[in-house]
Formats: sequence, structure tokens, C-alpha cells
Amino acid sequence: MENEIKKQKTFFGHPMGLRTLFMTEFWERFSYYGMRAILLYYMYDSMVNGGLGIAKTTAGAIMAIYGSMVYLSSMAGGFISDRILGSRRTVFWGGLFIMFGHIVLSIPLGFNGLLFSIALIVIGTGLLKPNVSSMVGHLYAPEDTKRDSGFSIFVMGINLGSFLAPLAVGAVRGSYGYHAGFSLAAIGMFVGLIFYVIDSKKQFNKEDNQAPDPIQKSELKSVIQKLVIGVLAVIVILVIMAVTNTLTVDNIVSGLSIIAILIPIFYFIQMLTSTKTTKQERSRIRSYIPLFIAAVAFWAIEESASIVLAFFAIDNTKVMHIFGSAVDPAQYQSLNPLFIIFLSPLFAMLWVKLGKKQPSSPMKFVIGLMFTAASYLIMAVPMLGHDENIKVSGLWLVASFFLVVIGEMLVSPVGLSVTTKLAPKAFASQMMGMWFLADAAAQAVNSQIIRFYHPGNIANYFLFGGIITVVLGLVLFAMKNRIKEMMAGVN
Ligand code: GLN
Ligand code: ALA
Repeated sequence: MENEIKKQKTFFGHPMGLRTLFMTEFWERFSYYGMRAILLYYMYDSMVNGGLGIAKTTAGAIMAIYGSMVYLSSMAGGFISDRILGSRRTVFWGGLFIMFGHIVLSIPLGFNGLLFSIALIVIGTGLLKPNVSSMVGHLYAPEDTKRDSGFSIFVMGINLGSFLAPLAVGAVRGSYGYHAGFSLAAIGMFVGLIFYVIDSKKQFNKEDNQAPDPIQKSELKSVIQKLVIGVLAVIVILVIMAVTNTLTVDNIVSGLSIIAILIPIFYFIQMLTSTKTTKQERSRIRSYIPLFIAAVAFWAIEESASIVLAFFAIDNTKVMHIFGSAVDPAQYQSLNPLFIIFLSPLFAMLWVKLGKKQPSSPMKFVIGLMFTAASYLIMAVPMLGHDENIKVSGLWLVASFFLVVIGEMLVSPVGLSVTTKLAPKAFASQMMGMWFLADAAAQAVNSQIIRFYHPGNIANYFLFGGIITVVLGLVLFAMKNRIKEMMAGVN
């Protein structure tokens, strides 16, 4: 039987299920990053131009908190798949929510349409993103050596979708307006869903068809109770805000950002105090805390590209021409995934070549943070001592994206793998979610600091962000031997 399966068609030597997941995630990321590339501009562009006319700083804060919620909701997505639906169905529902989220934006529904779309896409991505990744893991036996290369191919799918989307959606918006751009995102997710529905029934194993740890009848009452209490709490808070006249977008953003920062803290405390974790596991969790904070700093800068670098692309960048056609500001967002596509294989080769001599995970984080800091510091250079209204070459943005992607090579895959390795047994599946929580917390921080990015303060913004990251990197460097000890054998 095993051999028979091996003789069947493969996808670059991998199980055919990988092709399905590759395509699904390609189109999901296409829709997400395509939408994000024009969303900021849509929010603050004037109504006559087809935008919503929201204040610029509020638009930036919404972008950040939206990104935060998208990854925060992956905790719920993991729960629903583990305990109710199983991965296969959870991913399907996620795709459906996402598609409708983009459809809502493709119709001119104003600010309420935006909120509705955000809610749909936050729910949908929470359902889809963590589970499509864990389904990749399920394609391989635990010790299968093809596993890592399977994930590398999958990550290529993510980045190919993320690369093409801003180019395509940016161009469509340029010619036909915002809603046409969002329609393209909706079409992308539709195509992804078609691939998924056609292929998913036959490709995946039983593991994905049912919840691995279904909710027992005896637990049902307490789960429903918690859910009702949660929903009631939200309603009470909203009502109190409404009657005290504090129900503003800014306050909601602040409230959500506090939640996004508290949740990882709550998880750390829970893991450290659980009776299910052993002494060695607790030491590993403690070693993970500084790495987690470093990851937050990294994601804060990486994710800020869709906000501050997007502002910079439109306000402070001269129009660039490539092959005779003008680069749309939204299209700069393609640079991150483009560099990832080129640099990933180089870094994979580098690690193989260095073998045992390669830096430890904490040291890779240190170097990664330095490059990440450099991506901000370099943006301060053309703005230092200048009038904030100057326009500079787009190559500054290219350089900044290049530097942050080197940081990404050293933090993102390393962090993901160290997260799984440091996970205590009893929390193995939640720990994957922890990695997304670093991104969620980072964007929660962004939602609060983005207000300091404004004409007159641009150089300072990049300088401060860069310097804080350098300092964090140095602290991590000073701690690295202690961290390695605490990691207790993991490296
Ligand atoms: N750019 C990554 C993606 O889209 C971000 C996810 C993450 O690891 N936080 O998959
Ligand atoms: N940088 C985005 C991600 O890591 C595209 O895949």
C-alpha cells in the first residue's frame, strides 16, 4: 500500500495534498496582501476619489489593529479545528468567510462595509491560516525528512501569492478604482476555494476530517458558559462605552491592543504554572520569553511596512518607472515577498554549508534584529534635517525592504521551528498559535505608536524605532548564553 501511494503522481516529489494546500494558501495570501496593499489608501483617500475620508492616523491605527486581530483570531481557529470541526472543514469555512469579506469591500458600502469586511476576514483568516499550515504538517510522518522541504515549498506559495497580489491589485486600482481592486482579491479567494473543494476530499487523511480532540458532552456546558460570558462582557463594555460617549474608533483600537498584548502574557503564565509542565519544560518556556519579545520587535517593524512604508511610498517617494511604466505606491508591497523568494534558497544553502558552525537560534535572532533595525535606520537617512515634504528615490524603500527581509530570514523560520521545539508536551498545539501571537502583539503595539508617524517626525520615527530595536538586540546578545542554557538541549 505504502509503495502504491509512492508510485502515484507527486507534487515536486511530495504528496499531492501539498499542491492543494499550496494553491489554497497562494490564493488566500493573494487576496489578503492584495487587499492590504490598497486598504490604507482607500481608508484615508477623500470621498471624491472613492475613498472613505478617514483621518490618516486613524487609518494607520486601523491597519495595524486589523493585522493584529487577524493573527489573534488564529487561536480561536485552532480551537475550532481541534475540538469541533477538524482541519479540513475549518479551512473551508475560513476561505468562505474571507471571500465574503472581500466581496463586501468590492461593493461601495462605506465605513460600515469596512467594519463588516474586517470582521469577516478576521474570522476567516483565523479559521484558515493556522489550520492550512498544520495540514501541511499532517502530510508527513513525524520523522519524514521531506517535511522541512515540504514547508519550504508551502512558504514559497505564500510568498508567490503575496508578491503577485500588490502588483495586480495595485494596477487594477490604478485603472478602475478601489472596489475593482478589492474584487480582484475576492476572485483570488474564490479561485483558491475552488481548488480546495475539488481536491481536498481525496487528498487528505482521516486526521484532517475530524476534530482530534472533540468536545465531550460533559465539557459542553462549561464551554458554552464561557462563550456566553465572553459575549456578554463584550456587549456590556460596548454599552458602557456608548452611554459614556467613549465609543470611538481610537478607544476600540486601544482596547483591542491591550487584549492582544495580554493574551500572550496570559498564555505564558498558564504554561509556567500548569501542573502538566515538567521542570525542564518550564525552563524552556522561560527561555522562549526573550525570544518572543525579540519576535514582537521584529514583526512590529516588518508589519509596519504596510503602513509607514506605504505612507512613505505615496508622500515622500518620486514616481519610479520600470520598463516604461510607473510604479504604483501599492506595488512596493511586493518587495518583501519578492526578496523572500530569492533569499530563502540562499539562506537554506548557507545553513547547510555552515552545518554545525551555524549560529544558535538566539544568535540568529540577534543578527536578525540588527538587520531589522537597519531597515528603519536607513529610512531616516534621506529625511534627516530635511523638509518632510521632500520626495526621494524609491530605491530607499527597496533598500529598506531588502534589509528587513534579511531579518525575516533570520527570525521567521527560526522562530517557528524553535517555537515547536520548545513547546511543552501538554501545550504542543497551542504553541503554534503562540508564534502568531507574537505578530498579533507586535501589530497591537504598532496601532498605538503609529500616531507618532507624521510629517515633521518621520526621521525621528524611523530613528527611534531603529535604536530601540538595536538595544533589544544587544540585550538579547548579552543574554544569549543564559538563554541557551535554559533551552535545555534545544538549539
Ligand atoms: N507574512 C507571513 C505570512 O503571511 C506572516 C505570518 C507570520 O508568521 N506572522 O504567512
Ligand atoms: N512577509 C510575508 C510572509 O512572511 C509575505 O510570508
